[in-house]
Amino acid sequence: MDSKLNLTKSLQLFQESLKLLPAGTSSNARLWKTACPIYTPCTIFIDRAKGSHMWDVDGNEYIDYRLGYGPIILGHGYKPVYRAVHKADKSGIVYALGNKLEIDVVKRMSTMVPGVEMVRFSNSGTEATMSAIRIARGYTKKNKIIKFEGHFHGTHDYLLFSTDFPYSAPKKPISASLGIPKDISKLVLVEEWNNFEAIERTVKKHHKDVAAIITEPIMGNAGGIMPREGYLKHLLELCERYGIVLIFDEVKTGFRISPGGAQEFFKVRPHLSTFAKSLGNGYPIAAVGGLKDIMEVVGPGKVVHGGTFSANAIALTAANATMKELCKEAVYDHLEWFGSKLMKGISECFADHKIDHLVQGHPAMFQFLFTRRERIYHYRDLAACDFNLYAKLHYELLKRGIMIDEDNGEVIFTSYSHSKSDLDQTITAFRDAVHDALIQRSPLIPPTL
Ligand SMILES: Cc1ncc(COP(=O)(O)O)c(C=O)c1O
Repeated sequence: MDSKLNLTKSLQLFQESLKLLPAGTSSNARLWKTACPIYTPCTIFIDRAKGSHMWDVDGNEYIDYRLGYGPIILGHGYKPVYRAVHKADKSGIVYALGNKLEIDVVKRMSTMVPGVEMVRFSNSGTEATMSAIRIARGYTKKNKIIKFEGHFHGTHDYLLFSTDFPYSAPKKPISASLGIPKDISKLVLVEEWNNFEAIERTVKKHHKDVAAIITEPIMGNAGGIMPREGYLKHLLELCERYGIVLIFDEVKTGFRISPGGAQEFFKVRPHLSTFAKSLGNGYPIAAVGGLKDIMEVVGPGKVVHGGTFSANAIALTAANATMKELCKEAVYDHLEWFGSKLMKGISECFADHKIDHLVQGHPAMFQFLFTRRERIYHYRDLAACDFNLYAKLHYELLKRGIMIDEDNGEVIFTSYSHSKSDLDQTITAFRDAVHDALIQRSPLIPPTL
């Protein structure tokens, strides 16, 4: 397939937005390089989305495997959620007072995730992880936080370290942004994930200062790397032994890889958890929750938590309706079925072309990597992957109406709305696209406007 993707209108809008929004976007992560007709980072402008499909402003249709970076677990505009929200918005949106739905949603959450005894709501994963570490600090009266290389917990200053850095850099907190005061790095310790001995050494040395260990239970921002057998349990045991709060950042895994998230899937119950994305099927709602004993440190005169939009009626309605659907076994059966078939189909396609590869993660969120390694365990292992081939394949897939993220570190998300025909179309597109990606040995040439 020689044709280029027609992104004329997207590009016009992008050029206009460059004058109005820094870098022309509302989130740096939305800037793509290889798919852009001007071959400088730009973004595709979307017109609408429905079910598992999206349409851009140039009329290109895509099967969507980014799903807004994960929230759309049921599908875009999923009817029961859509109807509930559009009925509720007739009764007002923000009351900034109590709402019975807060109780209903927490009850649903604690039934699905038994370690979640109490909850506070906010609007984004960033707010949830920021609150979680404050709660841990308030509870333990200690200051430092251990996080892992390649784990992303949002854009606040306290955890935006060593998220995406050169693979050969020394092991120390590496700020991912200008503008974060240097002194904050003194409150962060970074470790290599999946390394039993390294974390044990760090905890033994620093436990008197460490309030929390925060981890993504699956590396949803670094190629879907899975935990080694027993690793998450090891973290819990260390935390219990040394008086540290274990936080699972389930912003991506929560209500996605199983009804009870990663803690149910891996059978490890952390002290605190953060949720967002799938909780509201795309409506902005997030939560920090966990053991009552720890959560009760939040309150007047103690740990501050709040926000004008926290637990607004629309977000709660969306969460309530989403969770009602997520109680149905059929949802998780479908995610498992669809995702497993897709993982297998992609792997077979690469194997037929004799491409070294690895497909890893969970059927509801996984990724493929071009590597000779049979398994990879932590962020620095990604150095052994061919990102150039991924970039070419990404563009070839886009031309064929399959949208995965441009970043190989992101994961492929599946939803309840992805159908058998999406599956067949995707696998056929992969077979076609990989052929074309392989024959373009030279670097991508920037197409002229
Ligand atoms: C694991 C994890 N935690 C936190 C966040 C931040 O969530 P938000 O973008 O809603 O602030 C993300 C975002 O992708 C994430 O993947």
